[in-house]
Parts: sequence; structure tokens; C-alpha cells
Amino acid sequence: MTGKLKEPRIVVEPPGPRAREVIEKDRMYLMQSFARWYPLVVDRAEDYVVYDVDGNAYIDLNAGIAVLNVGSTNPAVVEAAASQLRRFTHYSLTDFYYEVAVRLAEKLVGIAPVEKPAKVFFTNSGAESIEAALKASRYSTGRQYIVAFLGAFHGRTMGALSLTASKPVQRLGFSPLLPSVVHVPYPYPYRCPFAAEEPGECGEMALGFVEEWVLGKLVDPSEVAAFVFEPIQGEGGYIVPPDNFLPGLEKLARRHGILLVADEVQTGFCRTGRRFAVEHWGVKPDIVALAKAIAGGLPLGAVVGSDKAMTIRPGGHATTFGGNPVSSAAAIAAIDYMERERLCDRAARLGEKTLKRLKEAMDETSMIGDVRGKGLMIGVELVKSRETKEPASRELAEVLMRLFKRGYLVIGAGVSTIRISPPLTIDEEALMNAVEAIIEEVKRLERERD
Ligand SMILES: Cc1ncc(COP(=O)(O)O)c(C=O)c1O
Repeated sequence: MTGKLKEPRIVVEPPGPRAREVIEKDRMYLMQSFARWYPLVVDRAEDYVVYDVDGNAYIDLNAGIAVLNVGSTNPAVVEAAASQLRRFTHYSLTDFYYEVAVRLAEKLVGIAPVEKPAKVFFTNSGAESIEAALKASRYSTGRQYIVAFLGAFHGRTMGALSLTASKPVQRLGFSPLLPSVVHVPYPYPYRCPFAAEEPGECGEMALGFVEEWVLGKLVDPSEVAAFVFEPIQGEGGYIVPPDNFLPGLEKLARRHGILLVADEVQTGFCRTGRRFAVEHWGVKPDIVALAKAIAGGLPLGAVVGSDKAMTIRPGGHATTFGGNPVSSAAAIAAIDYMERERLCDRAARLGEKTLKRLKEAMDETSMIGDVRGKGLMIGVELVKSRETKEPASRELAEVLMRLFKRGYLVIGAGVSTIRISPPLTIDEEALMNAVEAIIEEVKRLERERD
């Protein structure tokens, strides 16, 4: 048991010989549509420690992209999944019934921050949850327009991609996408798209833009089905909006009968120190889209919405694997574990400590332009200089590669932001060692450059 490893253990410089073999075959047999940060080839993992195929042990600050909130191979999740695997592996909710999915749905309705009574629709991924949320919004309102935000990431299927706007390469070559989608600026306090003096003003101006320019000049509100938003933008750069923004968006939505759809695919399940990120602002969406951490690493997604938003009639929407019994059993175990171990509180406490140290580090290097986040969803934006705020994208890639070679797994978000999103179970000392390693590598790069 190496669950309490405090530092990485690198025995062969990665990628080692076995890793190189796997990567060569990957290139031969897999469509190369992924943009990978470094050549990690995973062999196994335990909690927050990942082992590669050459025997190196890494400290994980990725959680498999915000999925392994309860840690990898969490024993409670493994046991629940294994026991369900032995009972039955699949029997399609689309045409039949089974209890484990109903038990999970009841649990999700209990914890989701939506108005009750509420209903669940199960999917297999985040993108599919967004698809379901889009269909439910259009169907229940009879309206066709969707307002989404620049910088957003909602997935890659055609409907979800139509809302995604975090990097042009994600859309390049796939148009035409869904019509009737309008993108508006997201209030990004460090780089406010409006000439605002402070974050609150940035939030107000973003809301004013939607009200005055979009609803006032482009689309009558009676044709807008939903505002779809990430409470904290993930892939777009770990961007926390100003405090007035989401409550203001909720008011605007209510005034016009527009549904609020919160994409909590990345922010959900205690990642930000609350079960769901909208709870930081007391906002109650009509629909929340979920996936990633929901089932402790098994594939599952869900949409939870108030009864008035979840009205699609029989035959109107379904998917063969949605609510798979093994994933559902794993999800029940993961959610119970999260509650039992008070992972939300743990994420909040460790997140505050991490933020504090990273903010202090701004006195040690001028390459950190901004540090932000909630819970263990933390972004460290690298800039070439604090005066110009010019994004340091190449430097970001170099820092991440160096951290990888030292045994720390961390990737980027947005243009030049280090994204810190470890398992919420990570050992405190291991986390703080990783944070020091990040600071050291940024400082080293700055020294080499100067
Ligand atoms: C906020 C958000 N929504 C949707 C998705 C899409 O999820 P998936 O990759 O499971 O389709 C992601 C994935 O990163 C995400 O971060």
C-alpha cells in the first residue's frame, strides 16, 4: 500500500521503454484527435498515486480530468461495482426497469440544487448530459434559442459543441453547427472583456450585455429556451465569475421564463468545496448537467431537472447504456463515500491552504498573473509579465512537462493556466509538496528566461 506516498518516485525518466512502445502503437491504431500534454502511460492507480508502465509513481493533480474525486480505485466504489457486475451487467433502462438506477436517481434528486419535485435522465458522458439538457429545455419551453458563453466548454458532440467556445480548434472543420445558439462574453475578472474597473462591474456589464444587446436587439426573450453556463469555467481556464454574476443571471432568466441550465460536469460532487458550485451563490438552476466524478471513475452522466423542465414524452429521448447498473452502483457508493468522509469540507479546507500558498508565491515570481479558484478547482494563470498580462502559453507547456518528469501530474486550461484538480482524498503533505514543485518550476523557468 503506497496510498500515503508524499512525493513521487521516478525510477526511469519518462517516457520509459514500455511507455514508448505503447505510445508508438497508440499512434498506429488510434485516431490522433487528442491534444496530450505529456507522454504518461498509466499502468495502475491507487487513490492519488498513479503508476506508469515503467514503474514510476506520480502524484496526481489531474484526477483523470476532475473525475476521481473519491480517489482512484476507491475500495467502496470497486466493491459496489464488482458486486453489481456479478448480479447483472446491463439491461437497458430504455425498455425495462431496475432498482439500482432508481435508487441513484432518488439520491441525485435529494442532493441536486434544483427545485423539487425533480426528475433524472441518465446518460454516459458530459456531452450527452448537455445534449439531454438542450432537448429538455427546448421541449419543455417550446422555444428554440440557447444563450451560451464565450470560453465555455460543454463537450464535443454536435449539440454540445455548438455551445462550446473555449478554443477554435474544437470547432474547426465541423460547421455548420446547431443554429439558434448565441454566444455572449463570460465575466473573466482577470481579463474582463468589458472596460470594467473591478470584478463586480465586470459581472454587471456581462449581464447588461445579455439584457440590452442580446435580448434587446437580437432575440426576443420569448424565443430563448435556456441560459447554459458553467458556474466556474473549466476547460476555458478555471475562471470564477464575480459574485454578482450568477444571481443576476438567475434574475434575468426568471423575469423572462428562460431556463437556467448549469453545467456542473466538472464542478460537481464537492470539487469546489460544495456539492455543486452554484451553491456558492445560492442559485437554483432548473436543470443541472452532471458526469465526470459522479460514479467514482466509471462512465455515467445525468441530468437532474425540476418536473417542469423534464417533460419529454415517452419515445422522445433515450439511450441504451444510460444508467448502466454497474455505473449506477458505483455512483451510489461514490456519493455515499463523499458524504461519509465529508469530502466537500476537505476540498474547501485544502483548497484554501493551496490558494494561500500560491497567492504568496506571486511575491516570488512575476510569471504568475492570477491565482483563483474554489475548493480543489484552482487555476494559476501564467503570464510573460504582470504588466502586459501577455499569456505565457509555451512556458505553461514547458512547466507541465518538467513537472511530469519530476513525477507530478498536472495539465493546463484556457490559454496559459495551470489547472489544479487533484482527487479530493489527496494526502495533505503530498498536495503541498506538489504545490511547492509547481512554484519551483515556474520560478526556475523565469530565471532561465531572464
Ligand atoms: C464543464 C464540462 N461540460 C461538459 C464536458 C464534456 O464531458 P465529456 O468529456 O464527458 O463528454 C466537460 C469535459 O471536460 C466539461 O468540463
